[in-house]
Amino acid sequence: MAKRNIVITGGAGFIGSHVVRLFVNKYPEYNIINLDKLTYAGNLDNLKDIENKPNYKFVKMDICDFEPFYRLMQEEKIDGIIHLAAESHVDRSIKDPFTFAKTNVMGTLSLLQAAKLYWESLPEGYEGKRFYHISTDEVYGSLALDSELFREDTPYSPHSPYSASKASSDHFVRAYHDTYGMPTIVTNCSNNYGPYQFPEKLIPLFINNIRQRKPLPVYGKGENVLDWLYVEDHARAIDLIFHRGKIAETYNIGGFNEWKNIDLIKVIIKTVDRILGNPEGHSLSLITYVTDRLGHDARYAIDSTKLQKELGWEPSLQFEEGIEKTVRWYLDNQEWIDNIISGEYQKYYDSMYSNL
Ligand code: NAD
Ligand code: DAU
Repeated sequence: MAKRNIVITGGAGFIGSHVVRLFVNKYPEYNIINLDKLTYAGNLDNLKDIENKPNYKFVKMDICDFEPFYRLMQEEKIDGIIHLAAESHVDRSIKDPFTFAKTNVMGTLSLLQAAKLYWESLPEGYEGKRFYHISTDEVYGSLALDSELFREDTPYSPHSPYSASKASSDHFVRAYHDTYGMPTIVTNCSNNYGPYQFPEKLIPLFINNIRQRKPLPVYGKGENVLDWLYVEDHARAIDLIFHRGKIAETYNIGGFNEWKNIDLIKVIIKTVDRILGNPEGHSLSLITYVTDRLGHDARYAIDSTKLQKELGWEPSLQFEEGIEKTVRWYLDNQEWIDNIISGEYQKYYDSMYSNL
């Protein structure tokens, strides 16, 4: 296996930490740089098991900072970028869209431009290089309950400030291929679940609230339908596509696993109650219907046939198995979540990296 120098942005976040772990463990000959600003969503506790590996390095940096990133590319001779850093929470985007435009759009553009200038300065140019952008199914908009799934050629129709910012960044990535010939790939994935997800998101929030006997705030009637994929299956898809995906292509990633929110919530309640030894149905009374999310999309569902047929990827876990693993992980790792709730995880890293 050839040596590669790869930057993974957003590696201290939920999905990024799984991608970093997979690459560091699977490719000891690679030089893996985890570049992350450590916003509220970044947590180096997610990577404790690999932080001392010789092929791993953490760099605290904002993707919007062009000069330091350009210098990093030169110094580390970066030939691959896997870009996950983003503001990722839809509810926050509704309250503060500017931060989403800055990080998701301008940050992505800044990385693209630095990569362009550096790679074009090399004798071999773009040969052997790759800019892989991780995006979301939400850029396609909302599906009717009885309609087809999102395919790679489904037109973009984002509704939330989050999905609008991700759609814009996807377009910039494709523009750098079409205009300058940069070897880019974009993938659009459905909802991920699993360990290390920030507890503002539905599944970890609800597991933790059941543990703490707090209300479970269900938006609207809980009838929105989402398509769920275990995070390690997404990370495996990213590995496969980074190495074997075709330049300039888009791949949808999803497990054909649609759930109405309220049904998923009942599965979570049942699983947590069983593991904690509560009688069946014990925590159903915590369900509290609250005002719906503004512009809440009715349904997302990904058709990942192209990825399955062309590259042979398929999800490894059945949903029931994935939910069981996930619930057990959050219940077994209460300190991880308690450190987030208390703010402890950030104070530690702010002081640790204040000189960088
Ligand atoms: P996350 O919020 O858990 O992590 C985001 C990471 O990016 C954090 O570590 C944060 O510190 C970092 N970051 C944010 N702004 C930054 C900046 N300006 N400079 C450097 N680092 C910065 O997000 P996630 O759920 O792991 O999502 C990762 C990526 O995958 C995002 O691009 C998201 O749009 C995409 N995605 C997520 C899902 C999902 O279900 N979570 C599904 C499809 C696609
Ligand atoms: O579809 C992929 C997207 O999935 C990613 O691009 C995003 O980065 C990621 O955050 C996720 O977005 P969602 O908005 O789907 O995730 P969230 O966990 O915030 O919400 C899941 C569903 O649950 C959604 O329909 C809203 C609902 N919900 C959420 C929360 C936090 C509730 O009913 N109550 C809640 O408290």
